[in-house]
Amino acid sequence: MPHPLEDLRDAALSDINTASDEQTLESARVRYLGRSGSISAWSEQMKTLSKEERPIVGKLLNQARTAVTAALEESGERLRAEKESRALQDIDISLPGTPAELGALHPLTQMLDRAVAIFRRMGFAVAEGPDVDTEWYCFDALNTAPDHPARNEQDTFYLPDGRLLRTHTSTVQIRTMQSAPPPIRVIAPGAAYRRDEVDATHSAQFHQIEGLYVDKNVSIADLKGTLEFFLRELLGADTEVRFRPHFFPFTEPSFEIDVKSKALKRGEKWLELAGCGMVHPAVFEQVNSARGDNAYDPEKYTGFAFGLGMDRLAMILFDIPDIRLFAQNDLRFLRQFA
Ligand code: DAH
Repeated sequence: MPHPLEDLRDAALSDINTASDEQTLESARVRYLGRSGSISAWSEQMKTLSKEERPIVGKLLNQARTAVTAALEESGERLRAEKESRALQDIDISLPGTPAELGALHPLTQMLDRAVAIFRRMGFAVAEGPDVDTEWYCFDALNTAPDHPARNEQDTFYLPDGRLLRTHTSTVQIRTMQSAPPPIRVIAPGAAYRRDEVDATHSAQFHQIEGLYVDKNVSIADLKGTLEFFLRELLGADTEVRFRPHFFPFTEPSFEIDVKSKALKRGEKWLELAGCGMVHPAVFEQVNSARGDNAYDPEKYTGFAFGLGMDRLAMILFDIPDIRLFAQNDLRFLRQFA
């Protein structure tokens, strides 16, 4: 006559081998091997058995546990495989696939990437700021008077809540200085917005690379050297660079930068490309009062800043006749730059 433990083992094996889903299998495991399962109950009883019985029952118990554990594993494997093949049955592998369409970088992105790569080699890090910003970041902190024409609603897009679409990327200068003490060496590529009459050369959205370098003893020589190097790397060694005195509220002195180069395909004509200058002490003061310290002490630190227009450059280098093409998402246009 088989021992009751052997009967129990056989019952367990049959339950496990016939389980038709994972839930049934799990409840069988609990029923036999769980903390109050019937096989576990036998181990509890061991201590009540006689000396003679104990080794016999111990051996049977071990065998039962090993057999049941192995069966559980095997059945689990079987159920998982069944589930998988059921799922695969619904897929028709003879159907043609959906080809992934390969995208490409927008010509403006390519232009910005090229410029950013050159500045990175000179140790500039990339900084960012929001396109929607406050008047303080766009104008006040940049020493721009309350009655400055750039603030006019005719020139700037204001949101109903008083915020605006940044009219230049110079906002990122302020955000960067607010978040970290000098030395600072960053560029900020990004979009800017103005209420321009839209035509082949004017768009309400355009792109700039802002730059800011603040440290002890930064001079105009550093400004000129940095920008000349950048422009020659970008446009070729024959590039001539001209710094023309100008006015910007946030720099003193200020310049506009013109370039002449074969790559620009305009003969002897200069192209106006950027604004730049030495950071105005009033900008440092604004930053200090926002920071609540004197980290940008204008007696100790100087800096240069610049803002490069990228759209016109991309138009010339990629032979694009109309600035509106940048924003129209016409694949016939975009594919040409893939
Ligand atoms: N923000 C100016 C513009 O959009 C460009 C500019 C001029 C940026 C001088 C600068 C700067 O950082 O120093 O016209």
